[in-house]
Amino acid sequence: ASTLGAQAAQSGRYFGTAAAAGKLGDGTYTGILDREFNAVTPENEMKWDATERSRGSFSFGPADQIVNRAQAHGQRMRGHTLVWHSQLPGWVGGIGDAATLRSVMNNHITTLMSRYRGRIYAWDVVNEAFADGGSGQHRSSVFQNALGNGFIEEAFRTARSADPSAKLCYNDYSIENWSDAKTQGVYRMVRDFKARGVPIDCVGFQAHFGAGGPPSSFQTTLSNFAALGVDVQITELDIAQASPSAYASSVRACMNVARCTGITVWGIRDSDSWRVGQNPLLFDNNGGKKAAYQSVLSALGGT
Ligand code: G3I
Repeated sequence: ASTLGAQAAQSGRYFGTAAAAGKLGDGTYTGILDREFNAVTPENEMKWDATERSRGSFSFGPADQIVNRAQAHGQRMRGHTLVWHSQLPGWVGGIGDAATLRSVMNNHITTLMSRYRGRIYAWDVVNEAFADGGSGQHRSSVFQNALGNGFIEEAFRTARSADPSAKLCYNDYSIENWSDAKTQGVYRMVRDFKARGVPIDCVGFQAHFGAGGPPSSFQTTLSNFAALGVDVQITELDIAQASPSAYASSVRACMNVARCTGITVWGIRDSDSWRVGQNPLLFDNNGGKKAAYQSVLSALGGT
């Protein structure tokens, strides 16, 4: 096939991108979005600060725009993200009382998932809950500090009841290298969830890589997680300077793992990227295909 999405589909996978509602009026942008990608993740529009700016008052305009558009174009949706310590409105950070925070968190999850019930392929239920560095433990956050370690499990249980048709993912960065303490911490959590029947279906590896690309153990990490009985996905791929070989090894790591169900890049053109000045994506500022595009297409099995 001659596009990323169509080629990924030949092995039953998707190839997606982050998309921003504010760019849907840009014809170059939407031209590439619709031609190349068969999955979409809202870059910011489903985050807490975009959807529940004050308690119990929800707004869905930009998120709806992305979901409706993706559905009209037959693209799968990844929901991003329900429980995250960042892009959290101040009023949530200020809740000290556990019972209040628990009810606020569960209400947020239930309201978003119910609105899009049946239309989301996978939800990032909890994002970036593990600490950087060597501890292998959860990071400090309002959720962790008020509710303790059990907040992640609680979020997943609430999510399962809110939309039983969505795959429920844990999503994080810097968990691609198998020997890292952070990777091991997430692995132990998933193993524990599977052992105790806590509902979890997938793990998202953000894959924000430096110029060297993925660590050599990346495929091992994906297959070790998959062996726990979850799907794995590359959810936010971008690589400083977009070396074709670094992109190709990232894609091959997924292609070589049966339960790696799809890959999402974190934006379309370099000018759309959050990594300003690093040119980390597959299309240049004019929407032209970069060398990395061709290497990704071949790594997916295309020509
Ligand atoms: O919407 C406001 C706008 O009203 C305001 O005028 C402008 C001025 O700064 O800010 C706009 O908000 C920005 C938002 O992107 C939308 O453009 C925020 O400041 C900015 O912080 C935010 O950055 C996003 C970042 O998450 C926030 O943490 C990036 O676009 C987004 O790519 C990035 O994505 C994250 C994933 O969700 C999780 N994993 C890491 C990844 C990269 O940081």
